[in-house]
Amino acid sequence: MSAHKIIIAIDGFSSCGKSTLAKELAAKLGYSYIDSGAMYRAITLYFLRNQVDYSDHAAVLDAISNISLSFVFNDETGRSEMYLNEENVDPYIRDMIIAEKVSEVAAIREVRSFAVAQQKRMGRKKGIVMDGRDIGTAVFPDAELKIFMTADPEVRVMRRFKEMYETNPQVTIDEVRHNLELRDYIDSTREESPLHQAADAILLDNSNLSKEEQLDIVLEWVKDRATNPRPVSPNN
Ligand code: DC
Repeated sequence: MSAHKIIIAIDGFSSCGKSTLAKELAAKLGYSYIDSGAMYRAITLYFLRNQVDYSDHAAVLDAISNISLSFVFNDETGRSEMYLNEENVDPYIRDMIIAEKVSEVAAIREVRSFAVAQQKRMGRKKGIVMDGRDIGTAVFPDAELKIFMTADPEVRVMRRFKEMYETNPQVTIDEVRHNLELRDYIDSTREESPLHQAADAILLDNSNLSKEEQLDIVLEWVKDRATNPRPVSPNN
């Protein structure tokens, strides 16, 4: 049977290496990669810049109506970058100030409906790898392949610390640990689409796997799902 283009949904806690895996998979398969967290980060940047009061329902709706998000492929870096209202905000959205607020913003119902509607549209043609917290549960409940990633908490802290240290040498390991713990807590206990493993997601613990080993394992899963697609639910 020939390989079909599928949807690959990758969820998991912060700094489990979701985006690394998702990017490598997309490159290998010729699929597009969408970092759904970047969308919540860009919305958070807009809220901070415009001092939007999160507790004010009307202010949130008004802010959202003024936000346009898009991913633009950069030929030089070979990556898609996040644009907020035509501005490339990719250089700013991974700052600690955004990391400190993004889970609160991502917990707002109206913010989620806005982002999820766009994410669903991006998957219409399949051939997509999307990572986030609710991709297999809310965005693409019928995705052919769902992966739930996890890794030892200290491994995750050191990975994120090294990543942040490159652009911000002032950052401390304790700050990073505190931020990850807080985000895990908010992301998994919020009312709207809390982070949890979908019943049909495959668990991938990469604490002791190299990037190459991890990619090889997942490519086998893709091969299986792309040649034996699961039946799509009748209401899809
Ligand atoms: O993947 P990330 O660390 O860039 O995500 C930033 C935040 O956005 C994360 O703390 C939770 C939220 N998020 C979400 O609620 N749903 C998603 N699909 C992706 C991210």
